[in-house]
Amino acid sequence: MFRLDGKVALVTGCGTLGEGWGNGKAAAAVLARQGAAVYGCDLNIDAARQTAQAVAGEGGKITVRQCDVTDGGQVAELVRACIETYGRIDVLVNNVGRSEPGDPVSMSEELWHDQIQVNLTSAFLCCKHVIPLMKSAGGGSIINISSIAGLRHAGKPQVGYAAAKAALMQMTVTTAVIHARDGVRLNSVVPGLMFTPLVERLAQKYAQGDYEGFVAHRHAQVPAGRMGDAWDVAHAVAFLASDESRYITGQQIVVDGGITMATR
Ligand SMILES: NC(=O)c1ccc[n+]([C@@H]2O[C@H](COP(=O)([O-])OP(=O)(O)OC[C@H]3O[C@@H](n4cnc5c(N)ncnc54)[C@H](O)[C@@H]3O)[C@@H](O)[C@H]2O)c1
Repeated sequence: MFRLDGKVALVTGCGTLGEGWGNGKAAAAVLARQGAAVYGCDLNIDAARQTAQAVAGEGGKITVRQCDVTDGGQVAELVRACIETYGRIDVLVNNVGRSEPGDPVSMSEELWHDQIQVNLTSAFLCCKHVIPLMKSAGGGSIINISSIAGLRHAGKPQVGYAAAKAALMQMTVTTAVIHARDGVRLNSVVPGLMFTPLVERLAQKYAQGDYEGFVAHRHAQVPAGRMGDAWDVAHAVAFLASDESRYITGQQIVVDGGITMATR
């Protein structure tokens, strides 16, 4: 079950800034392990190349390229390049996203627009260019990586991120209904507090660099008693990419160790 042989998966933000496994990097690895040919992109080409090395090192098929997915022209070029390389796109994982602190009083207008661009417009642009191709090929699966911050106050002052991730989930629902008859499925994977390399940067932004204290606080916030990791997100992605999930569209798989159910 859950094999992806013969499928092509486009993964945005396939790199990880720092050592270890972020959600996009793990998703690229798991999709390749399941048999998909992966086309990855990242703003940071060195990060994308590290993912390519890791995936190819375990026998996976992967090609990477530099792309800023907040730029429509670059996204069009990315999709064209993927088609040129592999001939089709069956799976699209819109993984790019980033949280910045602030509320309407403290956040600059520029940072607000940046948060909408990177967390929402990026997925809109990839859907814009990929859905017509999936539609003409008879279908496909789009997986948008959201966050529980789009469902709840997740403990950090991040209004731009929370608003954009909530909008991403509603864009997913509405687009899923519109394209259901085209065989194009759209679902969200909604991570909670994950122990990825991002946590170190979050500690700088939200805990004045107190990494140990920030990590302990994040573990304690989860009913399961610990943060999840990028593999937990990647496995949900693989399920939604596979044909075994063919009757599931417009849904959210929350991967959070119980946080949202404990804070209803
Ligand atoms: N790590 C968590 O705890 C957590 C929790 C909830 C949701 N998420 C979501 O998971 C997704 C990935 O998070 P991660 O922890 O793997 O982050 P990460 O920072 O490790 O990886 C994200 C990658 O995206 C790339 N990127 C950033 N802007 C880009 C752009 N404009 N175009 C192309 N690439 C770009 C970065 O260079 C980086 O390599 C994000 O959408 C994030 O909001 C993460």
